[in-house]
Amino acid sequence: MRIVLGVGGGIAAYKVASLLRLFTEAGHHVTVIPTEAATRFVGTATWEALSGNPVSNSVFDDVHQVNHVRLGHEADLVVIAPATADLLAKAATGQAGDLLTNTLLMAHGPVLFAPAMHTEMWQHPATRANVETLRARGAAVLEPASGRLTGSDSGPGRLPEPDAIFDAAMALVHGQTDFQLPLAGKTVTISAGGTREPLDPVRFLGNRSSGKQGVALAVAARNAGATVRLLAAHMEVPPPPGVEVVNVETALQLREAALAAAADSDVVIMSAAVADFRPAEISDTKIKKRDDTADPVITLVRNPDILQELVERRNQGVTGPATDGQLIVGFAAETGDQHGDVRAYAEAKLQRKGCDLLVVNHVGSDKVFGKDTNSVVILARSGSEPQEASGTKADVSAAIISRIGFELNQVSPRA
Ligand code: CTP
Repeated sequence: MRIVLGVGGGIAAYKVASLLRLFTEAGHHVTVIPTEAATRFVGTATWEALSGNPVSNSVFDDVHQVNHVRLGHEADLVVIAPATADLLAKAATGQAGDLLTNTLLMAHGPVLFAPAMHTEMWQHPATRANVETLRARGAAVLEPASGRLTGSDSGPGRLPEPDAIFDAAMALVHGQTDFQLPLAGKTVTISAGGTREPLDPVRFLGNRSSGKQGVALAVAARNAGATVRLLAAHMEVPPPPGVEVVNVETALQLREAALAAAADSDVVIMSAAVADFRPAEISDTKIKKRDDTADPVITLVRNPDILQELVERRNQGVTGPATDGQLIVGFAAETGDQHGDVRAYAEAKLQRKGCDLLVVNHVGSDKVFGKDTNSVVILARSGSEPQEASGTKADVSAAIISRIGFELNQVSPRA
């Protein structure tokens, strides 16, 4: 596929180098057209080296080739990233002062804008009107991500992550014309990893969860356009970029963070492995082994069931403003035993916990924990058909997030 990648003059231009790599590594032929301002952030040499093609931003270079006509006509896709307020305005009003804006006017194929700017600029009525104009003409304009911006400010206006733009671009060329990322404008809270319940200053009760599935879910939700909050218990993998991270250690800390985050979340996914029990007492000092004392006995007390509490609060309408349509997703790691098989235990757990979706893992000594692949069944409380998903944890996460997007768009009364 031939792609024109227009780069606007914003600091986020540096992230577009990764986007360019994603395109070229997927085998696409990319011509980069940076605006004059963009080259003040990332130089032409970078774009030439990464794309393997000559780069220009002037209609007066290689005039005999009539570049703006050729590039516009040949492009199967035009992606503008970062789409600055200035570029959106120029595109909306049909200006043609440089090679990029000329090419946009000549483009026959789909056009995707990935905006990035300060929140006030994005929310300004002038920018809103320009975005509406472009969308009304059939261009796809992504919602920017929320989070830390260039200065001390934060809010909507971050460039979506390169892989999110890549996914959106591929969806667009595959005919998604009514373009909207499935979780655009939604806030998704995801708990990940395993809690650690301290015994003394150096010891804890933990579990084998690596956090890989939770992190993969965070990436998939982010790529689907959501603002993602990751409640990270102990994880063996780093959190992904572009998500807000709240670090927790114990089940009680996770409960506090989850209840607070649920207040403004459209979706809560409890993928963390939460310890069901914690030591009744935490010793302030290291527990010593002494010959003259009996073997220590650890007394455990139950931890609150966070998932169940989230569901109860949602159903009682006390969670917060997003309560009404909030979707709650649980995970179940099951082995099955002489009293029941995996599916029977999972169905019972779905009813007991009352969550909307339950993602069921079949775990054994060599399955799931710490592995890169997974195989799950998604059970729905609505009673719709169980859905199977397998593959890498990224594949499974994409299937779960897509199912969540589908459920959110259903108008379903809650019991
Ligand atoms: N969970 C939770 N709080 C707990 C324990 C678990 O929120 N104290 C959540 C997990 O994050 C997961 C789901 O509940 O989404 C199921 O966890 P699991 O450990 O499989 O279920 P249990 O409630 O422990 O049930 P059982 O002991 O019967 O397997």
